[in-house]
Amino acid sequence: MTTTRKLLVTNALPYVNGHLHIGHLIGYIQGDIWVRFQRMRGNRVGYFCGDDTHGTATMIRAQDEGRGTDALMEEMSTSHQRDFADFGVQFDHYGSTHTESNRALVAEIWAALRKAGRVKEKEVTQFFDTEQGIFLADRFVTGTCPRCKAEEQYGDNCEVCGGIYDSHEVLNPRSTLSGSTPEMRSAPHYFVTLEEFHAFLEDWVHSPGRLQPEIAKQLEGSFLSEPLRDWDVSRPAPYFGFEIPDAPGHFFYVWVDAPVGYIAATADWCAENEEVLDDWWRNPDCEIHHFIGKDIVYFHALFWPAMLKTAGFELPNRINVNGFLTVNGEKMSKRRGTFILARTYLDHLSPDYLRYYYASKISTRMSDIDLNFEEFTAKVNSELVGKLVNLASRTARFMKGQKLCDPYPDDGGLFERGAAAGAEIIEAYEACDTNKVARIVMGLADRANEFVEQGAPWALKKQEGKEEEIRAVCSVALNLFNQLTTYLEPILPELAPKSRALLSRSGAIGFEDTQQPLCGLAVGKFEHLMRRIDPERIEAIIAASTEEN
Ligand code: 2FM
Ligand code: ZN
Repeated sequence: MTTTRKLLVTNALPYVNGHLHIGHLIGYIQGDIWVRFQRMRGNRVGYFCGDDTHGTATMIRAQDEGRGTDALMEEMSTSHQRDFADFGVQFDHYGSTHTESNRALVAEIWAALRKAGRVKEKEVTQFFDTEQGIFLADRFVTGTCPRCKAEEQYGDNCEVCGGIYDSHEVLNPRSTLSGSTPEMRSAPHYFVTLEEFHAFLEDWVHSPGRLQPEIAKQLEGSFLSEPLRDWDVSRPAPYFGFEIPDAPGHFFYVWVDAPVGYIAATADWCAENEEVLDDWWRNPDCEIHHFIGKDIVYFHALFWPAMLKTAGFELPNRINVNGFLTVNGEKMSKRRGTFILARTYLDHLSPDYLRYYYASKISTRMSDIDLNFEEFTAKVNSELVGKLVNLASRTARFMKGQKLCDPYPDDGGLFERGAAAGAEIIEAYEACDTNKVARIVMGLADRANEFVEQGAPWALKKQEGKEEEIRAVCSVALNLFNQLTTYLEPILPELAPKSRALLSRSGAIGFEDTQQPLCGLAVGKFEHLMRRIDPERIEAIIAASTEEN
């Protein structure tokens, strides 16, 4: 007997000050696939996300645009939610870090840190932009990396050598806000001391299943190999964020309240759905799974568990880390037209294509994904349209107004073979190995197509008295089509319902539906299921994304 699991799943909260692009979508599509899979397994899932609103960038942008932060947040939240919905990413609740629930939760965690004696005050000398009158977050300073001398690196880390450093170490600093050379100024800051958590974090990071092994190793080799530095959690005014309750004029650094936004989104959903927050966040029987990008591992694997533990919340069971996107082998570029917004993509192509392409590239190992347009087009056209949809498009028209054979005809063991692959497919989904799922399903589709090719109903049609034979070949093909689209439903949520509609099947579907062929059901009218990608569509996307400079 299988027991139902209770799962709380989150995706990283996107920053409020930018539109979603196709690079962001890797993690969201991966999370959504996993959630849909779990739901098909009959597990209970709460899936949460929201906008990450605080920080200097929001404040500056709202100022530059001559409007308040509220108007900016509202516009961006609407835009993000539309993009997610149109890509089929279905959160139970899409919140924001700028909510009263988040303010209260951050205060609760802060009080717990204070009580545990984990907070101390220190003077911090930071860059100050004298033109803008504000202290500069590390992201707003660029300069030369003090380690490898790479230019145009952020104030606190180098993308070239992976070095992490203090912003005062960066060479030739510039404020990205005004372009001016910032000066150093001093102000008191609050710190959370982390070294006390070292042994606990060491254990936590290495407990089985917590992180992909290569990520645990990376943490071991970097942060965990030396004493953990105190974490600077406050910023002096002016700063857009939550004022620290017992330290007027000081605000929580955005990375304090950002992950707490996961809990706040859950809390707001609970309030609307007669649920109890502690049943989700203080319940050892509820599994917590975060999906994040590789650039924010250390916030999630070091600070976050320390905060949760101190405040008595459950810790994440698993943090699944995804890599970055390159397009045609290079970093996304506005000049080359490869910095593609989610909306620009949607204006031209179906979300299922990108969902499938990403899924076919994601395995258990964290790795970057290259969106190669030729490969993308070939994959969609040959695998989805040419192998999968082909099963229905070549056979359904011969079955119009007829019923699927009952009993199911002899198919040489194809359906059974597909049914037997179910266990391996489920295991692969569970491990986020959607590359494996796609490979198994496409292997099955190859066999199914051979069967159709041999049965050749289009040739039988030209002969007399072959009606039963045609019905048998087509009943098999449509059953295999339905079986395979059911397996792919978490990846291609639009296709499977169309397949069921074609076979007059409605209602909720689980993987158990891949185990028995459908018999005697009326075959409906064949509607177009999926189009091939016309390369002109890709050219149009690139043209719409190209910025001259
Ligand atoms: O890196 C980012 O895009 C952050 N806005 C992610 C925040 S995730 C969570 F901690 F809120
Ligand atoms: Zn460097």
